[in-house]
Amino acid sequence: MPGSRLEGKHAIVSGGAAGAGGAASEVFAREGANVVIVDIQEDAGLALVEKISEAGGKASFFKADVSLSDEVEDAIDKTNRLFNHRIDVLFNHAGTVIIKPFLESTEHDWDRMMNINVKSMFLMTKAVLPSMLDHGGAIVNTSSISAVAGTPMEVLYCTSKGACHMFTRAIATEYRDNGIRCNAVCPGFIRTAHGTRELNELREYGVEVSEEDICRIQGRICEPEEVANAALFLASSEASFVNGETLFVDNGMLVRT
Ligand SMILES: NC(=O)c1ccc[n+]([C@@H]2O[C@H](COP(=O)([O-])OP(=O)(O)OC[C@H]3O[C@@H](n4cnc5c(N)ncnc54)[C@H](O)[C@@H]3O)[C@@H](O)[C@H]2O)c1
Repeated sequence: MPGSRLEGKHAIVSGGAAGAGGAASEVFAREGANVVIVDIQEDAGLALVEKISEAGGKASFFKADVSLSDEVEDAIDKTNRLFNHRIDVLFNHAGTVIIKPFLESTEHDWDRMMNINVKSMFLMTKAVLPSMLDHGGAIVNTSSISAVAGTPMEVLYCTSKGACHMFTRAIATEYRDNGIRCNAVCPGFIRTAHGTRELNELREYGVEVSEEDICRIQGRICEPEEVANAALFLASSEASFVNGETLFVDNGMLVRT
């Protein structure tokens, strides 16, 4: 059912071609936003634009690796031309995970993790903020339970998500008086390519994340739409007084610890 929670808004979703970002692109468009999807996966991005258009929504795709400044600048230039320099919502969702024992992690792994999960938020937010300053806006970052719960084999990933928490809080304080809110969604394990690979690789290292373990710690696997709906709330005016928050989407996993 189409809704109107983002009616007339201009939204960008990084990592919006697939997974929970793909779900967010669909949900935002269904709620009336004109959505720009920024992703490295061109085929998936274009296919999703077609799917959204067929459902009566508005979407465009611009290919970019959001860890690279020139590609981000190019994508946001195109977005600004499309949206006449007015952007209302930025969902910084693109990210990845590296699963390795800490002592096998290389400097290259560290740089890759920080570039894709942290520098990308810096580059995208810096490029988009000028097009929010005059009228306000909402930024939502995808963090994780891993920002506060340590997992073996994920030192680099956990560190990157800890940075995401503080990026969110600091942007919220600096831009509150410009009418810009910045919040984070912090999912547990989601049924996406990322989530499936993460669970498989953790199991190979003997970390206890069997299906039974997932049921015990978070009830069941999280569906991508459940993360998208939490991001929708934070992006919409329903969250008008929610700023600098980290919204856990983990079915109570962390409140049990
Ligand atoms: N899946 C989980 O269990 C889980 C849990 C908590 C947090 N997260 C977070 O969710 C985000 C993505 O997860 P997902 O589960 O939707 O994954 P996914 O792998 O299904 O989707 C990620 C999307 O981001 C895109 N992407 C990756 N690197 C990119 C880059 N450098 N530039 C542009 N696009 C890029 C991919 O092409 C893909 O479309 C990450 O920030 C991740 O840390 C995932």
